[in-house]
Amino acid sequence: MQSALDFISWQEVINHGKFLIFKTIPLLFAASTITFITSHLIEKIRISNFRSKRRGTAVITGGTSGIGLEFSKLFARDKIDLVLVSNDPKEEVELVRKSLVEKFGVKVICESCNLSKNEDRLATFDRILNQLEVKADYLVNNAGFGMVGELQKLEWNQVNDMIQVNSTAVVHVAHAFVNDAINRKSSLKMITTSSLAGVQPNPLFNVYASTKAFTRLFAMASHVELAKYNITSTALLPGATLTNFVKRSKYDTIGKYTSVAKLTPEEVAACGYYHMMNGHSVAVPGLIYKFLHFLMWISPSDIMMNLFYNQNKPSQ
Ligand SMILES: *[C@@H]1O[C@H](CO)[C@@H](O)[C@H](O)[C@H]1NC(C)=O
Ligand SMILES: *[C@@H]1O[C@H](CO)[C@@H](O)[C@H](O)[C@H]1NC(C)=O
Ligand SMILES: *[C@@H]1O[C@H](CO)[C@@H](O)[C@H](O)[C@H]1NC(C)=O
Repeated sequence: MQSALDFISWQEVINHGKFLIFKTIPLLFAASTITFITSHLIEKIRISNFRSKRRGTAVITGGTSGIGLEFSKLFARDKIDLVLVSNDPKEEVELVRKSLVEKFGVKVICESCNLSKNEDRLATFDRILNQLEVKADYLVNNAGFGMVGELQKLEWNQVNDMIQVNSTAVVHVAHAFVNDAINRKSSLKMITTSSLAGVQPNPLFNVYASTKAFTRLFAMASHVELAKYNITSTALLPGATLTNFVKRSKYDTIGKYTSVAKLTPEEVAACGYYHMMNGHSVAVPGLIYKFLHFLMWISPSDIMMNLFYNQNKPSQ
């Protein structure tokens, strides 16, 4: 009796195995890298060419500075009217309003609100929805404020205010405007600014990463939950926070690398705008951060947490 194996020596089997490992895997790796980079470049071109043909009104929290202001400019460029909710100083807000109106000729309403206060939020929603009768077609849930210093050294009231703005207000704003859109039987596109830091638990950046995980999960689950109402929800995951913790860690030599990887608010907003308008569930700006997002997504939390912990520890 002869079996098929008798015709092949074990040496040949081993050689075939080596061929597979040493030739095929690098080829697959190269192919996926090329696909990854190409799709990023295509996305980049699409982002820079994208213009919304639909008009309407956008409500933007934190819309008078930072990433929120860049969102405001993109909507205004595409002739979409604006309602900007923020807690920035009155004179700054007025300057922003004036320049948007003069440059783009859109309607801009500015509402001042301390988003960490429940009563303030309720009063602001009532003004926007019932008194001004704003019909939002777009919602940018972007407010968030930060304080310098280690969490343990901050007063509880300050930490609580931050959690109120970074998590509670995000859900409250979505709740108010989604309800209004559903009652009007109208579509709504919303985007929530979260962070790549919300993908994995992050020892020593614990509360920050945890509130970002909260908004990331909230935005992504809303995408599926609200689809039947023709409402889309996008989680925007910029990696700028990664830059911060790399800088503060002992690996200061990566400074050069992080300045290459550093995202501008314009880039972040343009990427978010494109994915929001196309109704995608997640937007990750920047090639390096797309790759990091993928790595974080496939890596076990135990390994990542130890890595973050060692990286975040202040140097001796
Ligand atoms: C906003 O409200 C919170 C909570 O009452 C308060 O601690 C904070 O100082 C307020 N912020 C501003 C800028 O008024
Ligand atoms: C809240 O969000 C801001 C902006 O992303 C950030 O700087 C700050 O650290 C966050 N605070 C907490 C407690 O998550
Ligand atoms: C869903 O919303 C889009 C605009 O965002 C609109 O073009 C489309 O007609 C809507 N579809 C339904 C079924 O309402």
